[in-house]
Amino acid sequence: MIFSMRQRLRFYWRYLQGKTPWDTGIVPPEIVTLVPRLNPGRALDLGCGTGTTTIYLAQQGWRAEGVDYVGAAITKAKRKASAVAVADRARFYVGSVTRLGFIHPGIDLFVDVGCFHSLGEAGQREYTAEVARLAAPGAVMALYAFLPRLMNGRLIGAAPETVTALFAPVFEVESATIGTDSGSGHQSAWYLLRSHILAHQP
Ligand SMILES: C[S@@+](CC[C@H](N)C(=O)[O-])C[C@H]1O[C@@H](n2cnc3c(N)ncnc32)[C@H](O)[C@@H]1O
Repeated sequence: MIFSMRQRLRFYWRYLQGKTPWDTGIVPPEIVTLVPRLNPGRALDLGCGTGTTTIYLAQQGWRAEGVDYVGAAITKAKRKASAVAVADRARFYVGSVTRLGFIHPGIDLFVDVGCFHSLGEAGQREYTAEVARLAAPGAVMALYAFLPRLMNGRLIGAAPETVTALFAPVFEVESATIGTDSGSGHQSAWYLLRSHILAHQP
């Protein structure tokens, strides 16, 4: 609880000060490669920041939604979406990715570029339960996360086996590509997960 409140304050502060090195305006190439292989449907960008990836998905024909708990990031995301005329297909919400009651189930594609790894253990459990609840049959998830590392004296990130175990009730890890984050130099991984639930449960 204290960890998640501190994290939230850190992110507020970072956006307030403009110390957001992740906010490059570049859609990750892993997403650009994946998206044309999928049929457009509903997409949810978790921890969407200023909406770069959400807007890209809307431009590719998806009904895209982005969630972030920093209001300043969401305000900027909405402005960016209006500027490129996709505001009707890119919706943004201020809220926590651990409590997604305001999103309707039936998400075909989840995207997370750097949010999941900043949650503590409890937050990661809540997040995966929400994703499982919202996933449409056969849903896909593209997840970028740091491997475990110390940040401000706390262990953050997620080991590949943790990702596999937490998502297992609904998703299988189709691929995990370990690399090094170009900004920070930390070890990271891109995961492609696919729902093994292929029809609505009664
Ligand atoms: C490293 S940034 C990445 C932002 C965006 N995905 C991008 O690639 O530009 C992580 C984002 O996750 C958001 N975030 C972290 N924990 C969150 C939570 N529990 N609920 C909603 N947003 C969260 C932060 O506010 C921040 O915008």
